[in-house]
Amino acid sequence: METLVGKEEIIDTCAKLIQKGEIVAFPTETVYGLGGNALSDSAVEKIYIAKNRPADNPFIVHVPNVEEAMKYAEVTEDALKIFDRFSPGPITVVLKKKSCIVDRATANLDTVGIRIPSHPICQEFLKECKLPIAAPSANISKKVSPTTFKHVYEDMNGKIAAIIDGGDCEVGIESTVISLAGETPIVLRPGGITIEELSKVLPNVKGFTGVVKVAQSPGMKYTHYCPTVPCVLYSNRDNAIKEYIKQKENNPVILAINTEAQYFKDNNINSISLGETYVEYAHNIFKMLRECEKKYGYIIVQALGDTGIEKSIMNRILKSSGGKIV
Ligand code: TXA
Ligand code: MG
Repeated sequence: METLVGKEEIIDTCAKLIQKGEIVAFPTETVYGLGGNALSDSAVEKIYIAKNRPADNPFIVHVPNVEEAMKYAEVTEDALKIFDRFSPGPITVVLKKKSCIVDRATANLDTVGIRIPSHPICQEFLKECKLPIAAPSANISKKVSPTTFKHVYEDMNGKIAAIIDGGDCEVGIESTVISLAGETPIVLRPGGITIEELSKVLPNVKGFTGVVKVAQSPGMKYTHYCPTVPCVLYSNRDNAIKEYIKQKENNPVILAINTEAQYFKDNNINSISLGETYVEYAHNIFKMLRECEKKYGYIIVQALGDTGIEKSIMNRILKSSGGKIV
């Protein structure tokens, strides 16, 4: 299949492709998504095939605003509070689904994750489509999520109808997923919006503890974000250096926040800065993992703390490393 590639000038054409049942990759403020009509079994099926995605992992449904969300889910009062405060933006709210969303899109769950992205190209695309768009991240299953056009192109060129280039994704890690479908609000996946921020709006919100029933969020049981070369996290500088020396023959690299990276560089150790702040760290991490897997044979990544955006990044890099920390 020939894949149409372009910037905002192809939004109209892409919306028509979606209406015909094709699938299209598009930018969001978190990561790129791979979307299709959430009212069509055959469109949703195409996404599973292009990604090589396990059939029991549900897709998030993207809409441009709350009015549209109400057509596809039972939007509760708590959900309105969350949308009001954080949308459009990097948050997904799991709610009871309405029957028009095909079961294949939600892996037969009676809930649907609704997201209202803020990226201007994405907003325009969703408005043009005039349909709810089921979309996972636009990577091949298990691989690192794409945050640049180039990375989507590598995974999807030739497999899907079109890719809209919207530049680098600002947040760099996926949306926070909060479930409001049960008795207590629970964060199923930490992300760009932190648990601390959510608890200001919903004081009874429970943070993700790492033990969530598979039925609540099937995606959690799969391996994710895996670079094609081995990856470990380091908890302190000495251990990082020991690991680096141990792996010397495998062409290792250390990824860390700027001050740390500088320390390693000063000691003649190959290292790359992920930025000055944790927000920059989040923005750069997936992109750097994808670039480093091509150039290096072993990746050593700085482990982070358990609060705020650090917790969200840690949730992803623990999966990249298969939980290995030195
Ligand atoms: O930022 C994002 O959320 C990106 C962009 C493209 O919007 N999308 C994304 O989709 O990360 P994906 O499919 O890679 O991850 C969706 C996660 C999975 O862990 C899935 O299991 C969970 O959300 N999820 C989706 N629908 C759900 C539902 N109804 N109930 C529980 N978890 C759900
Ligand atoms: Mg994904």
